[in-house]
Amino acid sequence: MSSDVTRSGPPSQSVPGGAPVRSISELLGLRARHLNPTLSVSYREPLKIVRGEGAYLFDADGRAYLDMVNNVCHVGHCHPRVVAAGQRQMAQLNTNTRYLHDHLVEYALRLTATLPPALSVVFLTNSGSEANDLALRLVQAHVRARGTVVVDHAYHGNLSSLIDLSPYKFNGKGGAGKPAHVEVAAMPDIYRGACRDATDAGRHYAAAVAAAVSRLAERAIPTGVFLCESLLGCGGQIVLPDGYLPAAYAAVRAAGGLCLADEVQVGFGRAGEHFWAFERQGVVPDILTLGKPIANGHPMGAVVTTPEIAASFVSGMEYFNTFGGNPVSCAIALAVLDVIADEQLQQQAASVGAFLQSGLRSLQKDHAQIGDVRGCGLFLGVEIVRDREARTPDRAAARAIVESLKERQILLSTDGPDDNVLKIKPPLVFSRDNAAEFLDKLAEVLAQVPAEG
Ligand SMILES: Cc1ncc(COP(=O)(O)O)c(C=O)c1O
Repeated sequence: MSSDVTRSGPPSQSVPGGAPVRSISELLGLRARHLNPTLSVSYREPLKIVRGEGAYLFDADGRAYLDMVNNVCHVGHCHPRVVAAGQRQMAQLNTNTRYLHDHLVEYALRLTATLPPALSVVFLTNSGSEANDLALRLVQAHVRARGTVVVDHAYHGNLSSLIDLSPYKFNGKGGAGKPAHVEVAAMPDIYRGACRDATDAGRHYAAAVAAAVSRLAERAIPTGVFLCESLLGCGGQIVLPDGYLPAAYAAVRAAGGLCLADEVQVGFGRAGEHFWAFERQGVVPDILTLGKPIANGHPMGAVVTTPEIAASFVSGMEYFNTFGGNPVSCAIALAVLDVIADEQLQQQAASVGAFLQSGLRSLQKDHAQIGDVRGCGLFLGVEIVRDREARTPDRAAARAIVESLKERQILLSTDGPDDNVLKIKPPLVFSRDNAAEFLDKLAEVLAQVPAEG
């Protein structure tokens, strides 16, 4: 999309669904009074976004913002083929999965065709959290062991079972700390971590997973599962070092545990060279969980596992999910797979991601605030630091950069343990021109940030 989208006029005053149109201050006041009080709002001056198209979001005055952080609207906001598939199916039938329906079976066939043959049984859910919670039940059914190893700073979902497995939450503000059945392995971070200078960093960090398994064993807690994202999101857009998952999986499996790959954030071609990010490591997880991009913003998640693990779950108790796998969700998810293939979005993630990464590395040469550039495909992280030698994280500068880019109509956000990593994970329709525009504006902002930050 060209930048002339910024000239499109303000939206009409009627909102689909019939809600009255309210000002930003009214909306903030009403949210504060009537909605979940723990919800945050992005930006110092919040945005009221009313429309999306491709890689762009539009505010109530018709201003276009380049969205570089929404990894949910994977094939582009409101992609016409995805919208049409949902509308068609909504007008025809939406019911539960106790009736036979072509879409459900077709989706299982199409999804598993993208995966290694061992991962052939699909459960459909309504969110990534539900997928991870169901995966934990599969683990219990198969190995009957509660011990869980997770990676530091990870987030795996909003259900109680997953807050317990998310160091990002249980060690964060308001968190209750690590439960007894959980052990935390250090993040395999080759920029900051303890093994950052090791020649074989993957194996060194995998030793931390083996050590976590041993700590559970010392407390007579058998290891049931190692839960790890295939690229680390909340941890700060971290690419796993080569050899990490093979060695970590071997240690967990030797102790009788299963290996769960959480690709709720990073699946479906975002990694560029591979459709699934675990493929980068040459491993096959026992269970894979999916969400966010699976249906381009329509609420959906999935668990994919082996026939053996699925068979262990057959106990006489049915797993029924009222909405999971309904014909509308499946129609939308099928359209997402079609668009990824037809518009070659995995290839686009690889090529635009490489262009963006090399542009960021060039900026790094001139701007000392950039400590590290990392990532793959369209999943990139930029570490903002105060002192490049000491690698001192600069959260205030990272925030200032995000705010300044917003003024220039580019939406980004931060993550990582020090909240100083610019996280870049746009819809995959993000183009080379979009990347060039971002690089120009980032250069402009970096030249100003020391004064602002
Ligand atoms: C890695 C990861 N797993 C699971 C979840 C939970 O997904 P959902 O918010 O759809 O429940 C998230 C959400 O941010 C996530 O980033």
